[in-house]
Amino acid sequence: MTDSRETFSAQAFVAGYPIKHSRSPLIHGYWLKAYGIAGAYETVEIKPENFPAFMAQLRNGESGYRGGNVTIPHKEAAAHLADHVDEIAREIGAANTLWREDGRILATNTDSYGFAANLDQQQPGWDRASTAVVLGAGGASRAIIQAVRDRGIKDIRIVNRTVERAQELADRFGETVSAHGMAALQEVLEGCDLFINTTSLGMKGEPFPAIAWDRFPSHAVVTDIVYVPLRTEMLRQAEQAGLATVDGLGMLLHQAVPGFEKWFGRRPVITPDLRQLIEADL
Ligand code: ATR
Repeated sequence: MTDSRETFSAQAFVAGYPIKHSRSPLIHGYWLKAYGIAGAYETVEIKPENFPAFMAQLRNGESGYRGGNVTIPHKEAAAHLADHVDEIAREIGAANTLWREDGRILATNTDSYGFAANLDQQQPGWDRASTAVVLGAGGASRAIIQAVRDRGIKDIRIVNRTVERAQELADRFGETVSAHGMAALQEVLEGCDLFINTTSLGMKGEPFPAIAWDRFPSHAVVTDIVYVPLRTEMLRQAEQAGLATVDGLGMLLHQAVPGFEKWFGRRPVITPDLRQLIEADL
């Protein structure tokens, strides 16, 4: 039986530097209230040089936290300093979710899960795609390619401004994944039925590369990890061309689910109310 004192006094954190813009406290705060759990989820700003000491206090129980999220710039250090890193976080090379168990820190990365779970909810059957084009080759791209590959999509094409970075990423995955420069974008789109933007393009009003949406098959799904603004220029164009589109907010919400369950003992549900709450804060 679970110790009720522990269940009801659980505390979790999100650690980053800087940390001002994290929406995680709103998400976890909403669930804590919705389920009547008297826990807490707090924001902690930690400079990189202090992060190892923070991890030591988490491990020995001094900080009182059950676990938490880590964000920029601590994701790689968290994977390095944790006592056990699961396969997905090891492959991504970064952790975003930590929890304490028997005096050890366990780590995972829930970005791949969040990406796939969101599409499962919003576009079931998305993983029947045969050809995925992934724009970008950074940390988010790596997690998403992992998710797409794990669902059995056999032709994944990375397109990136810096082609060497795309190649480096493609090499980690073997034959399934190929690398291309921006100049090849139009030809790479041939046959694409899943298009994913993992770059910040579209966030600050930068022009989005021209895409011939009318050449996509009508069942294609187009998704963006950007969620500010919610309807990016890219999604608007794809929608106008009659394609199915999925915005980036769902991934943010879904990636929070496994952490909440670990720390507070209840698998939370993503309701329209929660979405509205976060949308109002964007
Ligand atoms: P994250 O961890 O969020 O994925 P990142 O590792 O900094 O962030 O990766 C950002 C991605 O967006 C990269 O693919 C980057 O391209 P480069 O590898 O060439 O830097 C891409 N990106 C960012 N700004 C861009 C821009 N103005 N035009 C094209 N690509 C851009």
